[in-house]
Amino acid sequence: MKHLLKLEDWSTEEIIDCLNLADQLKYEQKHGIEHKVLKGKTLGMIFEKSSTRTRVSFEVGMTQLGGYPLFLSSNDLQIGRGEPVQDTARVLSRFIDGIMIRTFEQKEVEALAEYGSIPIINGLTDYCHPCQVLADLMTIREFKGKLEGLKMCFIGDGNNMMNSLIVGALSTGMSISVACPEGYDPPQHILEFAEKYGDGKFELCRNPLDAAKGADVVYTDVWASMGQEEEKKIREAVFKDFQVNAELMSKTNPECMVLHCLPAHRGEEITEEVMEAHANEIFEEAENRLHAQKAVLVKCMADEENMR
Ligand code: CP
Ligand code: NVA
Repeated sequence: MKHLLKLEDWSTEEIIDCLNLADQLKYEQKHGIEHKVLKGKTLGMIFEKSSTRTRVSFEVGMTQLGGYPLFLSSNDLQIGRGEPVQDTARVLSRFIDGIMIRTFEQKEVEALAEYGSIPIINGLTDYCHPCQVLADLMTIREFKGKLEGLKMCFIGDGNNMMNSLIVGALSTGMSISVACPEGYDPPQHILEFAEKYGDGKFELCRNPLDAAKGADVVYTDVWASMGQEEEKKIREAVFKDFQVNAELMSKTNPECMVLHCLPAHRGEEITEEVMEAHANEIFEEAENRLHAQKAVLVKCMADEENMR
C-alpha cells in the first residue's frame, strides 16, 4: 500500500513518475478527457487546521476522478474530543478507501498509517507539506523545462515548507540555498538529509542576499505558520529582513521565478511588487495543486488495473 506521509519516503523515481502523471492529467483535463479511475472510492479529508487550496483541490480532484470526497472537520469528529488517532484510523479504514489529513504533529499522520489499513496522504503538518512541493516541482518543470541543475532559494522560516522543499529539490537534482534567522533553522535530520547530497547542493545562509545569488527559483512562505499565531509579533521583528523584494531579486539569475505556497502576506515575507510581477507563476502553482494531487490520489488509491 502506498502512503504519502512525507516526501523523503518517496524515491526520486516515484517523485518524477508522479510529476509525469500530473502533467498528463493536466493535459487531459484541459482537453476534456475524463478518467474515473477512483469510481466508487471515498477519500476522508480530516482538517485540524484551516485550508483553502488543499481542501478545494482535493475535493475537486477526487470528484474529477470519479470518487467521493468526504470533508471531516476535527471540530465535529470525536478526534476533537480526545478519541485516539489509533482508534479513528481503525474505524475509518472500515468505511472509506483513503485519508487525507491536515494536522499539527507528524506523528499523528504516521499513527494513522500504522493503525489504519488504507492509504494516508499528508495534507500538511508542522513538519512538512509534501503535496504542495509536488505541485511546486511540477510548476518549475513547466516553466523551466527541467529541474536538474537549477538552483532554488528559500527565504524565511525553517518550517514545513522549507523542510519539504529541501527534500524535493535535492531529490530531483536541484541545489537549494536557504536563508533563515538563527534559531529558526530546519530540524537536524533535514540538515542531515541535505548533507548526504554533498558540497554545493545545499547551503544554509543567514543573509538572504547571499542565498539568492544565482537563484533560478525564489520561494518564500509566511513568517508565522498556522498554530504560531501567538508568536506573530515576535516573528515580525525576527524576520523583518527576510523578505523577497526588489533588492533580493536583483541578486538572482535574470529569468528567476518566484513561488509562494500561499496564503501570502504582502509587505511581510514578500512585497506587493514582487508578488504581482510573478503572479503568473504563483497562481499556476496554485492550480497545479489540483493536478499534482490527482496524481497522488491515483498513485495511492487506484486499483491495480486503473494504476497509471
Ligand atoms: N498552500 C496551501 O496549502 O494552502 P491552503 O492552506 O489554503 O490549503
Ligand atoms: N507554513 C504555512 C504553510 C501554509 C500552506 C503554515 O503551516 O501555515
